[in-house]
Amino acid sequence: MAARVSARHVMVWLLVAAAATCFSCAGAGSVRRAPATRQRLEVQRHLKRLNKQAVKSIKSPDGDIIDCVHISHQPAFDHPFLKNHTIQMRPAFHPEGLLFDESKVASQKKTPSMAQLWHQNGRCPEDTIPIRRTKRDDVLRASSVKRYGKKKHRSIPNPLSIDPDLLNESGHQHAIAYVEGDTYYGAKATINVWEPRIQQSNEFSLSQLWILGGSFGEDLNSIEAGWQVSPDLYGDNNTRLFTYWTSDSYQATGCYNLLCSGFIQINSEIAMGAAIYPLSRYGGSQYDISILVWKDPKEGHWWMQFGNDYVLGYWPSFLFSYLADSASMVEWGGEVVNSEPDGEHTSTEMGSGHFPEEGFGRSSYFRNIQIVDESNNLKAPRGVGTFTEQSNCYDVQTGNSNHWGHFFYYGGPGRNSNCP
Ligand SMILES: *[C@@H]1O[C@H](CO)[C@@H](O)[C@H](O)[C@H]1NC(C)=O
Ligand SMILES: *[C@@H]1O[C@H](CO)[C@@H](O)[C@H](O)[C@H]1NC(C)=O
Ligand SMILES: *[C@@H]1O[C@H](CO)[C@@H](O)[C@H](O)[C@H]1NC(C)=O
Repeated sequence: MAARVSARHVMVWLLVAAAATCFSCAGAGSVRRAPATRQRLEVQRHLKRLNKQAVKSIKSPDGDIIDCVHISHQPAFDHPFLKNHTIQMRPAFHPEGLLFDESKVASQKKTPSMAQLWHQNGRCPEDTIPIRRTKRDDVLRASSVKRYGKKKHRSIPNPLSIDPDLLNESGHQHAIAYVEGDTYYGAKATINVWEPRIQQSNEFSLSQLWILGGSFGEDLNSIEAGWQVSPDLYGDNNTRLFTYWTSDSYQATGCYNLLCSGFIQINSEIAMGAAIYPLSRYGGSQYDISILVWKDPKEGHWWMQFGNDYVLGYWPSFLFSYLADSASMVEWGGEVVNSEPDGEHTSTEMGSGHFPEEGFGRSSYFRNIQIVDESNNLKAPRGVGTFTEQSNCYDVQTGNSNHWGHFFYYGGPGRNSNCP
């Protein structure tokens, strides 16, 4: 204990010393170095906030460092509203009425279970959670320290918008299936996992579900989960598990993964933002992940499960306005950023990079898409619509079968002769 206190003293002293150095630089007439020092300190402070003291650290083969942080020291508890929070170690409720028996589907085609790459080098002890360590370079790649870990404003696909200009405004492109017009208490999907090629590091490609509340104005509530390739966020092209939340349409609240306080993780085996493996291959083995997000009717928190075995944790109800009651829309599908480099459509891929017509093993799929209804049952969605800004670039096609329930193929290559 004494050692920790003195370490903190040393840290404070170092920061003061650094600030003093900065002053003297500016005094010496070096105008440019002052902001640089300020930024360096800002980055340092941010890293200190994000990277909590680890009980154990594990180096992943992909270069990530996974910190095993005591469950009560995770970033969520920096939130003033969570100071006295008692961590829920299990949901009070799990949606029943599974239409499709997952174990039957699995045993049919002995697919090895999905895991995360860092497991090869160790596991986190009990009472800790694995957190992908944020590196200085991760923060420096963001447009600002404040924007690190946040999506850009208004990237949400709004299939109901009647203003076509708004749809194309953000440069984000989607190929999605959706339901709306009811109250929803969760959603599930099994998502084919690929490693789409990203043309530019400021673009990304993701495949996810969205649970939305409110209108598409300034106060949109959203909970999102799936996989993504995002060179700017992670510094590589690996396919990673991610979550996102916002309660004000991506402005001040919310973030990816555990990059701000909000989501409370209880699981010691799955790290948000860590790489997923194995990945599907064109014409070869196919792999998928299941994601279930549902609202606990007792406490009102939104829980997330990965696969059949991992309940990851929950978003406390107080984070949200509309979603504190229920969701008004659910979307499933892909999103990419089209930054139109050189005035042409980007060749950043969505899904497998191949169009829906190619079908299984070639085009990426979502299968067994379901919603949680007002009786807290998992159900097939009714009245599924589809939406895409430019079907010649990325498309979506829905279907229905016994084993796959409601499913769709989605994605595409981006730039091609029909998508110049
Ligand atoms: C936490 O508990 C303390 C002591 O009971 C109380 O004074 C404080 O207001 C509580 N904080 C919150 C955010 O509920
Ligand atoms: C978006 O822009 C593209 C290219 O200008 C156009 O072809 C397409 O119709 C637009 N999409 C919508 C939904 O307006
Ligand atoms: C990611 O992929 C792009 C395009 O395939 C490539 O140019 C880039 O070097 C890759 N980035 C990393 C960090 O591997």
